[in-house]
Amino acid sequence: MNKKINIKTKNDSYSINIEKNSIIKNIKKIIYKNNKVVFLIDKKVFYIFKKLNNYKNQNYITINCSEKIKNFNNYVNLSEKIIKIGVERNSTIVAIGGGTLGDLSGFIASTLLRGINLILIPTTLLSQVDSSVGGKNGINTKSGKNLVGTFYQPKSVIIDPSILSTLSKRELLSGYAEIIKHGIINDKKFFYWLNNNSKKIFKLDNNILTQAIYKSILIKRKYVLKDEKEKLKNSHSRAILNFGHTFGHALETFYKFNQKFTHGEAISIGMIIAASFSHNLGYLSLKDFEKIKIHFLSNNLPVQDENMFNKKIFNIIDKDKKNLNGKINFVLLKGIGNAFLSNKQNLKNLKKNTHIIK
Ligand code: GLY
Repeated sequence: MNKKINIKTKNDSYSINIEKNSIIKNIKKIIYKNNKVVFLIDKKVFYIFKKLNNYKNQNYITINCSEKIKNFNNYVNLSEKIIKIGVERNSTIVAIGGGTLGDLSGFIASTLLRGINLILIPTTLLSQVDSSVGGKNGINTKSGKNLVGTFYQPKSVIIDPSILSTLSKRELLSGYAEIIKHGIINDKKFFYWLNNNSKKIFKLDNNILTQAIYKSILIKRKYVLKDEKEKLKNSHSRAILNFGHTFGHALETFYKFNQKFTHGEAISIGMIIAASFSHNLGYLSLKDFEKIKIHFLSNNLPVQDENMFNKKIFNIIDKDKKNLNGKINFVLLKGIGNAFLSNKQNLKNLKKNTHIIK
């Protein structure tokens, strides 16, 4: 099963192609069609690139990827290296790897010569359903994650579900958390479909996996098309995609992005807190809350952590750069598939109402 999704924003138009075993075929096309190509490749997936007969003749840089690579030093060093290779305005950067590589590569591509072509080949489930869609990129600073970056759409995105067979169960689960998030915020039918099919996703059933990735991207696309630069404050706001991320992101920061939680695990706990908050404020029925929690428990997504209501977590949330005039933007639920953005919340209200329903 192959799927194609077209994304047409105000200034850009490109396609996302989902196809099994399609990476080498597409790399050959990219080399043939483009003037000068520089490949930035996560070392973990360099074995894919090596399948290209003449890979040694290509311009490529391998990188040992983790969240830590998204820093100013790497941005400068990689940019200098790419400039030395002799890129021009019509040259292309191809990023082959997970979300951290995509974020760094996107920022480099958007600023080199004021913007050269970018093609993304995401190799983790998380990057296939989230970061490779919608054009956000960025690097981290001492004060926080993704504080420097741009919105810059790629020329195309190539998704190969067969590549996921090399991922650990935990990495798959991390991506799955973003997939179920898309169902919870926007598509009740998709949530129920996932109830019936999640086990097949973890078994990497190609048809089911392709459909889950496809549907997930279609949901994300709705928000990107309506609100590419995250300016809206209503139910079409791109910020709705941050469901579960207020506490999830605070937990990641609390644990200093160490191995305790993957991104998906942290936002899973964040989603359960956000769903509880929605119920405690009178928006979400107990029945819907329980359906969400049962889905998480039966798919081994974590629903709590001993430190989730630590004072430091609330301090991190309070200091978030996205807060305005003491108000915390919070994504809440009126039901499964029906999320909305509340800009009325404050720290006191959060402390009082976020406790998890037993
Ligand atoms: N991951 C949320 C967004 O792309 O807006």
